[in-house]
Amino acid sequence: MAADKVDSRPIFFIIFGASGDLTRRKLIPALFSQHVKGRLPEHIQIVGFARRPYDHEEFRRQMRQGMEELAEIVPDADDWEGFCRRLWYVRGDLDDAGAFERLQAFIDQKVDGPAHRLYYLATAPSFFPVVIEHLGQLDMAQESESWRRIVIEKPFGQDLRSAQRLNQVVHAYFDEHQVYRIDHYLGKETAQNILVFRFLNTIYEPVWSRNYIDHVQITVAETVDVEHRGAYYDRAGVIRDMIQNHLLQLLTLVAMEPPATFDADAIRNEKVKVLQALRPLDLHQSVLAQYEGYCSTQGVADHSQTPTFAAIKLYIDNWRWQGVPFYLRSGKALKEKTTEIVVEFKPPPHVLFDLPQDYHLTPNFLSLCIQPDEGIHLRFETKVPGSPRETRSVDMEFHYHESFAGQSLPDAYERLLLDAIQGDASLFTRSDEIETAWKVLEPLLRAEDDASIAGEMTTYAPSTWGPPEAETFMTQEGRIWRIGCREHAD
Ligand code: BG6
Repeated sequence: MAADKVDSRPIFFIIFGASGDLTRRKLIPALFSQHVKGRLPEHIQIVGFARRPYDHEEFRRQMRQGMEELAEIVPDADDWEGFCRRLWYVRGDLDDAGAFERLQAFIDQKVDGPAHRLYYLATAPSFFPVVIEHLGQLDMAQESESWRRIVIEKPFGQDLRSAQRLNQVVHAYFDEHQVYRIDHYLGKETAQNILVFRFLNTIYEPVWSRNYIDHVQITVAETVDVEHRGAYYDRAGVIRDMIQNHLLQLLTLVAMEPPATFDADAIRNEKVKVLQALRPLDLHQSVLAQYEGYCSTQGVADHSQTPTFAAIKLYIDNWRWQGVPFYLRSGKALKEKTTEIVVEFKPPPHVLFDLPQDYHLTPNFLSLCIQPDEGIHLRFETKVPGSPRETRSVDMEFHYHESFAGQSLPDAYERLLLDAIQGDASLFTRSDEIETAWKVLEPLLRAEDDASIAGEMTTYAPSTWGPPEAETFMTQEGRIWRIGCREHAD
């Protein structure tokens, strides 16, 4: 992967929206952890920018407290001491150009010569264009002797048009090579392992196509409900919050062709091709639903029609995947927290064993468990010892916690922030990728936004696997949802 040559120029990591939840919960813990591991560049300074009336000391105190409370990390005193010497705070309003001038002046007085800058947009999405325009108009995006990068959190737009508009604002001041659109699912160790699994082993790739694969399922199930994020979630819903980004990203990793090299553009070119080949979504091939009680959440409209669960079927119209359905589902307030990809293989063309008449042949399947029990299972049939006609399904299993005992998996942000600092954009979403993903989901978003198309919203009981319609949807396809190499039962 293309990373920067080591240079000794200082780096300023500037966080807009530094008093928010994301900074305490994810960004500071990830940067701190990389500091402890000795992986942060020596000359990096982290500058928080927000409206709250903090000084540097108060900001440091707040970050430490947030990290302890939200990320449950209690830092060693020396480690924290070393880290917090790199932490600074500039108070300012995102609407105020003068505040950006003060930020500029603060950075300039800290260094003698050129310094690199990474701007992290951890603000509410409505401020993304505001911040970008201030940076652009004050020439803070210009690269001459040092680089300028911008990391943009999700959601990147609300639909295709707003994503295009946001890309236009970004590109008015930043070249695409400076832009890092973050999707934390790509930073998950197990998501990255999909490509290693597919392209560093010879045994799976030959069967990785319509010739042997019956269908693919991608499930991202959460037990939590929308918690305190009602106001945000009610405008987003599960399609915008999860499917457009995390699930479609997982789908591209499963379905993409091998890139010739492992560099950012080669990888992203292949992912875009998958998205471009997705057949326009058929609304009749989807189930949208809302968990009971959602409408009484603070910030949610009384008769909200926002779905908190979706199951959809997609086809990739290309040579490799023609005719293979990809079923995607995600929801809040479900029975288990799990993210999993199940690849189900076709039955053997001819069964030569003398099996009982009512014998139900279990297909082979491979399950890639992204979280929480990270690992890979392969299910296959075997003969029950001593029995002439009986067979049973068994698993070959790999669990990270067994094979890499004592090694905890790093949080996704640790990897992503370091990649952005080092200039490796492989795990970030390119502008064409994001726009194509929105385009695929347009019919569903229109239905979601227009109750007259969608009809009455189906509901489901919390702590179940979603509405019964989602099960019926699969049984009508002659298939069943699977979790961890098993069918799930409520
Ligand atoms: C975020 C969504 O992007 O991903 C949240 O906004 C969701 O609603 C979260 O809870 C899930 O992430 P993870 O890593 O816990 O699966």
